[in-house]
Amino acid sequence: MLKGKTILFGVTGSIAAYKSVDIIRRLIAEGAVVNVVMTEAACRFIPPYTFEIITGMSVYKDLFGDSFSHINLPKEADLLIIAPATANTINKFACGIADNLLTSIWLAYEGVALMAPAMNSRMYRNPIVKKSRVELSGLGVRFIGPAEGGLACGEEGIGRMAEASDVVEAAITALTPKDLAGHRILVTAGPTIEPMDPVRFISNRSSGKMGFAIARAALRRGADVTLISGPTSLRPPDGAAMVYVESADDMEKAVLKDLRKSTSLIMAAAVSDFTPSVINKSKLRKSEITTLKLKETRDILKKVSVQKGKRIFIGFAAETGKNIENAKKKLKDKKLDLIVLNDVSEKGAGFGVDTNIVTIIDKKGSAKEYSLMKKLDVANIILDGLLNLKA
Ligand code: CTP
Repeated sequence: MLKGKTILFGVTGSIAAYKSVDIIRRLIAEGAVVNVVMTEAACRFIPPYTFEIITGMSVYKDLFGDSFSHINLPKEADLLIIAPATANTINKFACGIADNLLTSIWLAYEGVALMAPAMNSRMYRNPIVKKSRVELSGLGVRFIGPAEGGLACGEEGIGRMAEASDVVEAAITALTPKDLAGHRILVTAGPTIEPMDPVRFISNRSSGKMGFAIARAALRRGADVTLISGPTSLRPPDGAAMVYVESADDMEKAVLKDLRKSTSLIMAAAVSDFTPSVINKSKLRKSEITTLKLKETRDILKKVSVQKGKRIFIGFAAETGKNIENAKKKLKDKKLDLIVLNDVSEKGAGFGVDTNIVTIIDKKGSAKEYSLMKKLDVANIILDGLLNLKA
């Protein structure tokens, strides 16, 4: 995701500096070249040698080491990340004080900047720090976190530096071209659960990973995303408007509610096809359950197809076996623009895994087969398809 990108990474003096090692490792794994700049205080928390080993390059610390590094490093950078960002550095940045290499770099830098603050909660809430944060936000700096929780000083509160995955996600988002800006995409994900009594339900094996990957990829590309999800254990993608539902009925209501303001609908959810005919208010005794009576749920895509208008509808066909004819039938019946066929019985495809093997079929019946790839890459291919339909 970050191939060919150069990131200038500032580390300032906080105990959270140990987290930067993981962030930088992940940025490099995504293909970025990372130049590390450390303040004097940062070197007290973590030896520069640690960063030299993971980046394979020298760490920049000294304003007077190389006369032009404060000019050349920012010129070469596609993105500046300060993590951890202390109250001291945030205040200096806001005031334009250039008394070390990092603060001098800031004055010469003209691109996108991300900052992950880390400090005690009283310092974070201090009006001077708050004023600096507001000032920097106004200049376009994007703050990631901080989170609430246990702090190094033993207190609880706001001030914990954001997790590595959040900083990396923000970096990828900042560097992804916004070709979906203006799109409002409604995505459904996960299973639905259909209760038979207060403790039991029927459901399916969907993990939600495919729908969440579509939401994440669309957000990175600048779309507004509403993600309607059945029960999953996944973290919501940063920036998505989340709607949590349980049953097929709930999901239908949520889709109907949000469709009006959406330009596209991508139904990646594995909606339960059946629901118990009766939901018992109290727990059924074992002896009372001899047979389970089911009724069919309404087909959400079919139901909303009357409101399609100019919207793009994309569905999935979960099949066991590469049943292209069946997928084409679903595309037609549900009035879809594209259908993504996945053989859930294939190794590396379908439920619970991070990869998928799909065939994408359009309205003209042309089918394009893709080999095993990450769900995030499948998501981008689906979104490319959506953009091509729009063009
Ligand atoms: N879908 C829906 N409402 C349902 C069931 C499915 O909107 N009650 C959507 C799914 O989200 C998916 C598409 O329809 O985008 C196809 O779902 P799939 O489970 O593959 O097919 P079904 O239509 O349920 O048919 P079958 O289970 O018989 O294959």
